[in-house]
Amino acid sequence: MKKLISLFMLITGFATAGYAQTATEATASVWDDPMLTFYVAIGFIFIVVLLVLLVAVYMLQVINAMTRQAAQERAAKQGVVYKPEPSIFAKLWNQSNDFVPVEKEADIMLDHNYDGIRELDNHLPPWWKWLFNFTIGWSVVYLIFYHVTNTLPLSGQEYQNEVAYAQEQALKMKASSPVAAIDETSVKFVTDAQALADGKQTFMNNCASCHRQDGGGDIGPNLTDEYWLHGASINEVFKVVRNGVQGTNMIAWEGFISPEKMQNVSSYLLTLQGTNPANPKKPQGELVKPATTLPANADSVKVQASL
Ligand code: HEC
Repeated sequence: MKKLISLFMLITGFATAGYAQTATEATASVWDDPMLTFYVAIGFIFIVVLLVLLVAVYMLQVINAMTRQAAQERAAKQGVVYKPEPSIFAKLWNQSNDFVPVEKEADIMLDHNYDGIRELDNHLPPWWKWLFNFTIGWSVVYLIFYHVTNTLPLSGQEYQNEVAYAQEQALKMKASSPVAAIDETSVKFVTDAQALADGKQTFMNNCASCHRQDGGGDIGPNLTDEYWLHGASINEVFKVVRNGVQGTNMIAWEGFISPEKMQNVSSYLLTLQGTNPANPKKPQGELVKPATTLPANADSVKVQASL
């Protein structure tokens, strides 16, 4: 069914707008697109209209053929020569072109003769003149709407409107999913066991290779002591984890670990304070106590996190 709908959308050309946008976002699929029903409905209406038009044209041809036959029979009965009426399309074609018949070309031949090449003084075809008049009319409408009454926005204004709209949407998204929007100003020191267990998992998977499983430090600094290179608050720790430290082995983890997991791992590593692992790396940086005061139940938190 899904394949059918996407084929349907491709055929009708309505897929492009919705598709192109969502295809770039790895997480959002076409099927989550809130506009999907709209595109499908429009595509459906488009096809129905096309079919109705096809049937109408076919019916018209059948009726035409029947009337022509009737006229032919009538002419035969009256003994006159049957001369078919030109079709509507033929009439329209002649009207919009207004060709000078070949027999009458001599009348519009110009006097010049360029080495045997003669020129006809044909007038502009009516369809061209209609189009020209339409553009003049259109320019007046355009001028009034865009420059006199300012009813419609000019392209500069349109761009600004779109940017404002996008910013509004981004803010809305941020507000509706606080977890995805965590940054170094809004990060919290989380203490619930599940979050810390998740933080520990992340630490073992991604950080232990340099900071050691117990946080005692190896390539990276000791994270259990009270000496810090970049600050000891949850906000500063989160910032280092997210942005990394340029020129060192500490890479930016943004994009590899979700903001929520970065919050969890930052919280987890702060619970390692004062755990005094064996053979720690010697202190680096300045003596700072974490600004994040560990909660009263910190010991139980530590126990839970180390489970
Ligand atoms: C490839 C090695 C490596 C890995 C993996 C690594 N780090 Fe680091 N980390 C470092 C180094 C090196 C530094 C010191 C940077 C400097 O000199 O400023 C550091 C610094 C830090 C600091 C700042 C310490 C301070 O004293 O201010 C924190 C916090 C930190 N890392 C957390 C993590 C977390 C969390 C992870 C896992 C998501 C991680 N690191 C993974 C090498 C690593």
